[in-house]
Amino acid sequence: MIGSLVATAFWAMLPAYVPNNAAVLAGGGRPIDGGREWRGARLLGDGKTWRGTAVGTLAGVALALALNRIAEPASAALGVDLPMFALPAAVALAFGAMCGDIGASFLKRRSGRERGAAFPGLDQLDFVVVALAAVFAVDTDWALAVFTPSVLVVVLVMTPILHVVTNVGAYALGLKNEPW
Ligand code: CTP
Ligand code: MG
Repeated sequence: MIGSLVATAFWAMLPAYVPNNAAVLAGGGRPIDGGREWRGARLLGDGKTWRGTAVGTLAGVALALALNRIAEPASAALGVDLPMFALPAAVALAFGAMCGDIGASFLKRRSGRERGAAFPGLDQLDFVVVALAAVFAVDTDWALAVFTPSVLVVVLVMTPILHVVTNVGAYALGLKNEPW
């Protein structure tokens, strides 16, 4: 029971999990805010770039389409009915995740935090909350069927744990400047 909830939650959220990691690998180039400041601090900061956002979104959508191709055998192997992603849902999850992360940077700059500063809680959940809001708005029936209340609880518990583990890993590998 809990195993199938975790499998469904992880599968359905993968297109929202991957964009941030892809952005770390692809980041660089022109910052989205073009260097602009607002109220004495950068609007978003150099850590939010056009390239990172575009590559991150594309990586999430590409992953969703790849998962669609293996949904049947994976469902059979796990004994769980794993969902397929329609394109609008995939885009909502991936782009929503990127927007959540960008929104968090906006809030970090407003609260005087420099690029790379930690904001516990926000760092771990910003992208999930916006990705979920986006997919519920864009493909409501699909989202209601996939993200049942129990799956949502698993997502909200599992995501911060996964986020910490992957970021510490990326930091240890020298891919990321801070372990959060
Ligand atoms: N990145 C990017 N574009 C994005 C998100 C991330 O280019 N939309 C890249 C940047 O190179 C960034 C790295 O991924 O430095 C790590 O992302 P993150 O931790 O979100 O950014 P920080 O540099 O820590 O900046 P912030 O304090 O604004 O979160
Ligand atoms: Mg950071």
